[in-house]
Amino acid sequence: MKSSEKKNPDVMPDNFRFVALGDGGDVDFGEVLVGLQQTPKSVSPKFLYDARGSELFNAICTTEAYYPTRTERGIYESQAAAIAAEVGPESTIIEFGPGDMSKIRLLLEQLRPQTYVGVDVSAAQLEDAGPVLAADFPWLEVMAICGDFGPSQMLEQYLPQNARRVAFFPGSTIGNFEPQAAQQFMHGLRDMLGSNGAAIVGVDLQKPVAVLDTAYNDPQGYTRAFNLNLLTRLNRELGADFDERRFRHKAYYNEQLGRVEMHLVSVIEQQVRIGEHTVHFQPGETIHTENSWKYTRDGFEQLAAKAGFGVQRFFTDERGWFGVFVLAVD
Ligand code: SAH
Ligand code: AVI
Repeated sequence: MKSSEKKNPDVMPDNFRFVALGDGGDVDFGEVLVGLQQTPKSVSPKFLYDARGSELFNAICTTEAYYPTRTERGIYESQAAAIAAEVGPESTIIEFGPGDMSKIRLLLEQLRPQTYVGVDVSAAQLEDAGPVLAADFPWLEVMAICGDFGPSQMLEQYLPQNARRVAFFPGSTIGNFEPQAAQQFMHGLRDMLGSNGAAIVGVDLQKPVAVLDTAYNDPQGYTRAFNLNLLTRLNRELGADFDERRFRHKAYYNEQLGRVEMHLVSVIEQQVRIGEHTVHFQPGETIHTENSWKYTRDGFEQLAAKAGFGVQRFFTDERGWFGVFVLAVD
């Protein structure tokens, strides 16, 4: 069940703590402006997840077209015991981008960690899902940290010192990093986890183009709304005046690069105000809002190896569409 369908407990559970890290999940005016003044224009995908964006992402996950969620969930449902056997109990689980925290639920009974730390830019999701998780698993210390999971050294102060550290990075969110940034993230992760650390990483794999194109153009229109919602957020939080009707959603698999690209296309020539600044759009010019890199099993294994991780186990579904890598620090 999605946590958004669940009620927050009336009393905040004692085993739940909420922390804001840095700017929390706020949109950075300077960063967005610089991205919109570049050619080609781009905005970081992490800004897609305000409260409405998170709701729309959760809706995407329920669609037939968006295969990754149910495929990855299927792997955790069938392999929880095998994954737990690799990882061992009484660890600290650190989840990057937990969203509604529904995937960790599939593993908790078998993993039996002492502490769960979820780091996400979406305050709304953490506030909704964190207390419910803590109430449902009263034996678990739950900490929700609102902020960017990029600079992982800032997390250190909140992590228990003595337990084994296990990273959980599901959803193929690692695919939203550029390959070099993914490599850097994995390096930082290895340092944060320490010499006896482990990681469970969910990675979307390469597959037929038509499947990918449909997944990012779902017939219900949730992905379109998710993408366009970015403009509504920038209007509200940065004093911009984007007109959503003058942009259209575009997503397609770039076969040469091995990534799905998501863009907002300006349908006319127009000027948009952002605070005191004006940004000019040519007809057809796009704002690049997200890449979803699709890996091969070998490609991700090599990336992990370069960062100092060895693959302990690899799990996939019967079509080989999604991979779950259980990694250990070498
Ligand atoms: N893990 C969930 C959600 C994936 S959506 C699943 O598999 O379904 C990606 C999640 O990562 C969102 O909750 C989003 O808010 C969060 N996120 C994206 N970029 C982030 C960043 N740079 N720092 C922290 N959280 C981020
Ligand atoms: C979170 N992330 C891995 C999703 C993806 O597939 O890249 C976000 C998403 N974008 C469009 N649909 C889903």
